[in-house]
Amino acid sequence: MHEASGKSFAKIILIGEHAVVYGYPAIALPVKSIRLVAKLTPRADHQQLVASEFYTGSLAKAAQTNFAGIAQLLADLLAHFGQAQAGFTLAIDSALPPERGMGSSAATATAVVRAVFAACDAKLSRAELLAWTARSEHIIHGNPSGLDAATTSADAPQWFTKGHPTKPIAFPTNGTLVIADTGIPGQTKVAVAAVAMHLQANPRATKPRLAAIGTAVQRAARALAADDLVALGHQLDIAQAQLAALGVSNVQLDGLITAARNAGALGAKLTGSGQGGCMIALAKDAHQAAAIQTALIAAGATAAWQYDFAEEAN
Ligand code: PMV
Repeated sequence: MHEASGKSFAKIILIGEHAVVYGYPAIALPVKSIRLVAKLTPRADHQQLVASEFYTGSLAKAAQTNFAGIAQLLADLLAHFGQAQAGFTLAIDSALPPERGMGSSAATATAVVRAVFAACDAKLSRAELLAWTARSEHIIHGNPSGLDAATTSADAPQWFTKGHPTKPIAFPTNGTLVIADTGIPGQTKVAVAAVAMHLQANPRATKPRLAAIGTAVQRAARALAADDLVALGHQLDIAQAQLAALGVSNVQLDGLITAARNAGALGAKLTGSGQGGCMIALAKDAHQAAAIQTALIAAGATAAWQYDFAEEAN
Protein backbone atom coordinates (compact mmCIF):
# COMPACT_ATOMS: atom_id res chain seq x y z
CA MET A 1 0.00 0.00 0.00
CA HIS A 2 1.38 3.43 -0.89
CA GLU A 3 0.11 6.98 -0.36
CA ALA A 4 -2.95 7.73 -2.51
CA SER A 5 -6.04 9.96 -2.66
CA GLY A 6 -9.63 9.55 -3.80
CA LYS A 7 -12.00 12.38 -4.71
CA SER A 8 -15.75 12.81 -4.88
CA PHE A 9 -18.32 15.60 -5.13
CA ALA A 10 -21.43 16.86 -3.41
CA LYS A 11 -24.72 15.90 -5.00
CA ILE A 12 -28.04 17.62 -5.05
CA ILE A 13 -31.41 16.27 -6.03
CA LEU A 14 -32.92 18.64 -8.59
CA ILE A 15 -36.34 17.05 -8.35
CA GLY A 16 -37.96 13.75 -7.35
CA GLU A 17 -36.87 13.16 -3.73
CA HIS A 18 -39.19 11.02 -1.58
CA ALA A 19 -41.28 9.89 -4.58
CA VAL A 20 -38.08 8.12 -5.75
CA VAL A 21 -38.41 5.79 -2.74
CA TYR A 22 -41.76 4.61 -4.24
CA GLY A 23 -40.40 3.90 -7.72
CA TYR A 24 -40.81 7.30 -9.39
CA PRO A 25 -37.80 8.83 -11.17
CA ALA A 26 -35.55 11.58 -9.82
CA ILE A 27 -32.95 13.90 -11.34
CA ALA A 28 -29.74 14.49 -9.38
CA LEU A 29 -26.55 16.42 -10.12
CA PRO A 30 -22.96 16.10 -8.99
CA VAL A 31 -21.78 19.53 -7.82
CA LYS A 32 -18.14 19.45 -8.78
CA SER A 33 -17.25 22.72 -7.10
CA ILE A 34 -18.07 21.22 -3.67
CA ARG A 35 -15.45 18.50 -3.21
CA LEU A 36 -14.26 15.87 -0.80
CA VAL A 37 -10.79 14.29 -0.79
CA ALA A 38 -9.76 11.18 1.17
CA LYS A 39 -5.99 10.74 1.51
CA LEU A 40 -4.45 7.52 2.75
CA THR A 41 -0.87 7.77 4.05
CA PRO A 42 0.95 4.61 5.20
CA ARG A 43 2.45 4.62 8.73
CA ALA A 44 5.39 2.54 9.90
CA ASP A 45 3.93 2.11 13.43
CA HIS A 46 0.89 -0.03 12.37
CA GLN A 47 -1.58 2.41 13.91
CA GLN A 48 -4.81 2.88 11.90
CA LEU A 49 -5.93 6.48 12.34
CA VAL A 50 -8.71 8.62 10.92
CA ALA A 51 -8.64 12.42 10.81
CA SER A 52 -11.87 14.07 9.67
CA GLU A 53 -14.43 16.67 10.66
CA PHE A 54 -16.88 13.91 11.75
CA TYR A 55 -14.45 11.69 13.62
CA THR A 56 -10.80 11.77 14.64
CA GLY A 57 -9.16 8.81 16.35
CA SER A 58 -8.40 5.15 15.86
CA LEU A 59 -10.29 3.11 13.29
CA ALA A 60 -11.12 0.49 15.96
CA LYS A 61 -12.94 3.02 18.17
CA ALA A 62 -14.94 4.50 15.26
CA ALA A 63 -17.41 1.58 15.42
CA GLN A 64 -19.26 3.28 18.30
CA THR A 65 -19.58 6.62 16.49
CA ASN A 66 -21.50 8.06 13.54
CA PHE A 67 -18.41 7.16 11.50
CA ALA A 68 -19.26 3.46 11.96
CA GLY A 69 -20.45 2.92 8.39
CA ILE A 70 -17.27 4.34 6.86
CA ALA A 71 -15.12 2.50 9.44
CA GLN A 72 -16.75 -0.82 8.51
CA LEU A 73 -16.29 -0.06 4.82
CA LEU A 74 -12.61 0.72 5.38
CA ALA A 75 -12.05 -2.44 7.44
CA ASP A 76 -13.72 -4.52 4.68
CA LEU A 77 -11.59 -2.88 1.99
CA LEU A 78 -8.38 -3.52 3.94
CA ALA A 79 -9.34 -7.17 4.45
CA HIS A 80 -10.16 -7.49 0.74
CA PHE A 81 -6.63 -6.35 -0.15
CA GLY A 82 -4.94 -8.42 2.59
CA GLN A 83 -3.98 -5.19 4.40
CA ALA A 84 -5.93 -5.67 7.63
CA GLN A 85 -2.79 -5.07 9.72
CA ALA A 86 -1.39 -2.17 7.66
CA GLY A 87 -0.69 1.12 9.44
CA PHE A 88 -2.07 4.33 7.92
CA THR A 89 -3.65 7.70 8.48
CA LEU A 90 -6.84 8.38 6.54
CA ALA A 91 -7.38 12.15 6.27
CA ILE A 92 -10.75 13.34 4.97
CA ASP A 93 -11.01 16.90 3.79
CA SER A 94 -14.61 17.81 2.96
CA ALA A 95 -16.31 21.00 1.81
CA LEU A 96 -19.72 19.26 2.11
CA PRO A 97 -21.84 20.08 5.13
CA PRO A 98 -22.94 16.78 6.76
CA GLU A 99 -26.64 15.84 7.03
CA ARG A 100 -27.81 18.55 4.64
CA GLY A 101 -28.95 16.39 1.74
CA MET A 102 -25.72 16.88 -0.18
CA GLY A 103 -24.73 13.23 0.01
CA SER A 104 -21.91 13.69 2.52
CA SER A 105 -21.86 10.04 3.65
CA ALA A 106 -21.96 8.66 0.10
CA ALA A 107 -19.28 11.15 -0.99
CA THR A 108 -17.06 10.06 1.91
CA ALA A 109 -17.55 6.39 1.04
CA THR A 110 -16.85 7.02 -2.66
CA ALA A 111 -13.60 8.88 -1.94
CA VAL A 112 -12.46 6.25 0.60
CA VAL A 113 -13.06 3.38 -1.85
CA ARG A 114 -11.16 5.26 -4.58
CA ALA A 115 -8.28 6.06 -2.19
CA VAL A 116 -7.87 2.44 -1.01
CA PHE A 117 -8.04 1.03 -4.56
CA ALA A 118 -5.48 3.60 -5.72
CA ALA A 119 -3.23 2.86 -2.71
CA CYS A 120 -3.28 -0.83 -3.66
CA ASP A 121 -2.81 -0.14 -7.41
CA ALA A 122 -6.11 -1.88 -8.17
CA LYS A 123 -8.48 -1.01 -11.02
CA LEU A 124 -11.98 0.00 -9.91
CA SER A 125 -15.04 -0.28 -12.16
CA ARG A 126 -18.12 1.87 -11.56
CA ALA A 127 -20.17 -1.23 -10.65
CA GLU A 128 -17.56 -2.24 -8.06
CA LEU A 129 -17.45 1.30 -6.66
CA LEU A 130 -21.25 1.35 -6.21
CA ALA A 131 -21.26 -2.10 -4.60
CA TRP A 132 -18.60 -1.03 -2.09
CA THR A 133 -20.25 2.31 -1.19
CA ALA A 134 -23.61 0.55 -0.74
CA ARG A 135 -22.12 -1.26 2.29
CA SER A 136 -21.61 1.87 4.37
CA GLU A 137 -24.79 3.53 3.04
CA HIS A 138 -26.82 0.56 4.33
CA ILE A 139 -25.26 0.92 7.79
CA ILE A 140 -25.82 4.70 7.85
CA HIS A 141 -29.25 5.04 6.17
CA GLY A 142 -30.97 1.68 6.56
CA ASN A 143 -32.54 1.43 3.12
CA PRO A 144 -31.09 4.03 0.76
CA SER A 145 -32.45 4.34 -2.78
CA GLY A 146 -28.84 4.35 -4.04
CA LEU A 147 -29.25 7.74 -5.66
CA ASP A 148 -26.64 9.45 -3.46
CA ALA A 149 -23.85 7.01 -4.23
CA ALA A 150 -24.71 6.94 -7.94
CA THR A 151 -24.61 10.73 -8.21
CA THR A 152 -21.59 11.56 -6.04
CA SER A 153 -19.51 9.21 -8.17
CA ALA A 154 -20.94 10.43 -11.52
CA ASP A 155 -19.57 13.26 -13.60
CA ALA A 156 -22.84 14.45 -15.17
CA PRO A 157 -26.50 14.96 -14.12
CA GLN A 158 -28.30 11.67 -13.72
CA TRP A 159 -31.79 10.28 -14.27
CA PHE A 160 -32.38 7.77 -11.50
CA THR A 161 -35.02 5.14 -10.88
CA LYS A 162 -34.64 2.82 -7.89
CA GLY A 163 -33.22 -0.55 -8.86
CA HIS A 164 -31.99 0.62 -12.28
CA PRO A 165 -28.62 1.95 -13.38
CA THR A 166 -28.52 5.77 -13.56
CA LYS A 167 -28.55 7.43 -16.97
CA PRO A 168 -26.89 10.74 -17.87
CA ILE A 169 -29.54 13.34 -18.75
CA ALA A 170 -29.55 16.33 -21.15
CA PHE A 171 -28.89 19.67 -19.50
CA PRO A 172 -29.31 23.26 -20.71
CA THR A 173 -26.38 25.61 -21.18
CA ASN A 174 -28.15 28.52 -19.46
CA GLY A 175 -29.38 28.85 -15.93
CA THR A 176 -27.85 28.75 -12.48
CA LEU A 177 -28.99 27.00 -9.34
CA VAL A 178 -28.44 28.64 -6.00
CA ILE A 179 -28.09 26.09 -3.19
CA ALA A 180 -28.59 27.35 0.36
CA ASP A 181 -28.19 25.67 3.73
CA THR A 182 -30.77 26.17 6.50
CA GLY A 183 -28.01 25.22 8.97
CA ILE A 184 -30.33 22.59 10.42
CA PRO A 185 -29.34 18.92 10.01
CA GLY A 186 -31.93 16.84 8.19
CA GLN A 187 -32.36 13.18 9.12
CA THR A 188 -33.07 11.17 5.98
CA LYS A 189 -34.42 8.19 7.96
CA VAL A 190 -36.86 10.36 9.94
CA ALA A 191 -38.13 12.25 6.88
CA VAL A 192 -38.57 9.04 4.85
CA ALA A 193 -40.51 7.56 7.81
CA ALA A 194 -42.74 10.68 7.95
CA VAL A 195 -43.78 10.17 4.32
CA ALA A 196 -44.37 6.46 4.96
CA MET A 197 -46.65 7.41 7.87
CA HIS A 198 -48.66 9.77 5.64
CA LEU A 199 -49.00 6.99 3.11
CA GLN A 200 -50.21 4.54 5.72
CA ALA A 201 -52.58 6.93 7.47
CA ASN A 202 -54.05 8.51 4.35
CA PRO A 203 -53.20 6.60 1.15
CA ARG A 204 -55.97 8.26 -0.88
CA ALA A 205 -54.45 11.72 -0.41
CA THR A 206 -50.79 10.66 -0.37
CA LYS A 207 -50.53 8.42 -3.44
CA PRO A 208 -51.59 11.20 -5.86
CA ARG A 209 -49.01 13.51 -4.26
CA LEU A 210 -46.19 11.05 -4.96
CA ALA A 211 -47.52 10.55 -8.51
CA ALA A 212 -47.65 14.35 -8.99
CA ILE A 213 -43.96 14.55 -8.05
CA GLY A 214 -43.26 11.80 -10.59
CA THR A 215 -45.10 13.77 -13.30
CA ALA A 216 -43.18 16.94 -12.34
CA VAL A 217 -39.89 15.03 -12.79
CA GLN A 218 -40.91 13.87 -16.28
CA ARG A 219 -41.89 17.45 -17.22
CA ALA A 220 -38.68 18.84 -15.70
CA ALA A 221 -36.65 16.47 -17.91
CA ARG A 222 -38.50 17.74 -20.99
CA ALA A 223 -37.91 21.35 -19.89
CA LEU A 224 -34.18 20.64 -19.40
CA ALA A 225 -33.88 19.09 -22.86
CA ALA A 226 -35.72 22.08 -24.39
CA ASP A 227 -33.62 24.70 -22.53
CA ASP A 228 -36.88 25.99 -21.02
CA LEU A 229 -35.92 27.40 -17.62
CA VAL A 230 -39.33 28.95 -16.94
CA ALA A 231 -41.03 25.56 -17.37
CA LEU A 232 -38.34 23.93 -15.22
CA GLY A 233 -38.86 26.50 -12.45
CA HIS A 234 -42.61 25.81 -12.54
CA GLN A 235 -42.01 22.08 -12.03
CA LEU A 236 -39.69 22.78 -9.09
CA ASP A 237 -42.50 24.81 -7.48
CA ILE A 238 -45.02 22.02 -8.09
CA ALA A 239 -42.70 19.46 -6.46
CA GLN A 240 -42.16 21.77 -3.47
CA ALA A 241 -45.92 22.16 -2.92
CA GLN A 242 -46.28 18.36 -2.82
CA LEU A 243 -43.26 17.89 -0.54
CA ALA A 244 -44.65 20.50 1.86
CA ALA A 245 -48.01 18.67 1.87
CA LEU A 246 -46.13 15.43 2.66
CA GLY A 247 -44.69 17.12 5.76
CA VAL A 248 -41.02 17.25 4.78
CA SER A 249 -40.59 21.01 4.46
CA ASN A 250 -40.27 23.19 7.56
CA VAL A 251 -40.42 26.85 8.61
CA GLN A 252 -36.75 27.54 7.76
CA LEU A 253 -36.98 25.91 4.33
CA ASP A 254 -40.26 27.71 3.61
CA GLY A 255 -38.65 31.03 4.63
CA LEU A 256 -35.68 30.56 2.28
CA ILE A 257 -37.92 29.38 -0.57
CA THR A 258 -40.12 32.49 -0.20
CA ALA A 259 -37.04 34.76 -0.06
CA ALA A 260 -35.66 33.18 -3.26
CA ARG A 261 -38.96 33.58 -5.11
CA ASN A 262 -39.22 37.21 -3.95
CA ALA A 263 -35.70 37.79 -5.30
CA GLY A 264 -36.80 36.62 -8.75
CA ALA A 265 -36.17 32.85 -8.70
CA LEU A 266 -37.94 30.96 -11.50
CA GLY A 267 -38.70 28.21 -8.99
CA ALA A 268 -37.49 26.97 -5.61
CA LYS A 269 -37.75 23.84 -3.50
CA LEU A 270 -36.09 21.86 -0.76
CA THR A 271 -33.46 19.36 -1.89
CA GLY A 272 -32.77 15.97 -0.30
CA SER A 273 -34.82 14.58 2.54
CA GLY A 274 -35.96 17.96 3.92
CA GLN A 275 -37.07 18.87 7.48
CA GLY A 276 -33.87 20.94 7.46
CA GLY A 277 -30.89 20.61 5.15
CA CYS A 278 -30.67 22.58 1.94
CA MET A 279 -32.94 24.23 -0.63
CA ILE A 280 -32.35 25.15 -4.26
CA ALA A 281 -33.54 28.10 -6.34
CA LEU A 282 -33.39 28.43 -10.13
CA ALA A 283 -32.03 31.67 -11.61
CA LYS A 284 -32.09 32.58 -15.29
CA ASP A 285 -28.46 33.78 -15.21
CA ALA A 286 -25.48 34.44 -12.95
CA HIS A 287 -26.59 38.03 -12.28
CA GLN A 288 -29.97 36.94 -10.94
CA ALA A 289 -28.29 34.10 -9.05
CA ALA A 290 -26.09 36.61 -7.20
CA ALA A 291 -29.18 38.61 -6.14
CA ILE A 292 -30.94 35.43 -4.96
CA GLN A 293 -27.84 34.31 -3.04
CA THR A 294 -27.68 37.68 -1.25
CA ALA A 295 -31.40 37.44 -0.40
CA LEU A 296 -30.97 33.91 0.95
CA ILE A 297 -28.10 34.88 3.24
CA ALA A 298 -30.15 37.87 4.44
CA ALA A 299 -33.05 35.47 5.13
CA GLY A 300 -30.87 33.32 7.39
CA ALA A 301 -29.10 30.78 5.16
CA THR A 302 -25.87 29.70 6.87
CA ALA A 303 -24.11 29.03 3.55
CA ALA A 304 -24.92 29.30 -0.14
CA TRP A 305 -23.33 28.02 -3.35
CA GLN A 306 -23.96 28.43 -7.05
CA TYR A 307 -24.14 25.71 -9.65
CA ASP A 308 -23.98 26.87 -13.22
CA PHE A 309 -25.70 24.57 -15.75
CA ALA A 310 -22.95 25.55 -18.21
CA GLU A 311 -20.53 23.56 -16.00
CA GLU A 312 -22.08 20.43 -17.46
CA ALA A 313 -21.79 21.63 -21.03
CA ASN A 314 -18.00 21.87 -20.73
O1 PMV B 1 -31.19 13.87 2.09
P1 PMV B 1 -30.55 12.94 1.16
O2 PMV B 1 -29.56 13.55 0.24
O3 PMV B 1 -30.05 11.70 1.82
O4 PMV B 1 -31.67 12.48 0.12
C1 PMV B 1 -32.70 11.62 0.47
C2 PMV B 1 -33.55 11.35 -0.72
C3 PMV B 1 -34.80 10.57 -0.39
O5 PMV B 1 -35.51 10.45 -1.62
C4 PMV B 1 -35.67 11.32 0.59
C5 PMV B 1 -34.47 9.19 0.17
C6 PMV B 1 -33.80 8.24 -0.79
O6 PMV B 1 -33.27 7.21 -0.31
O7 PMV B 1 -33.83 8.45 -2.02
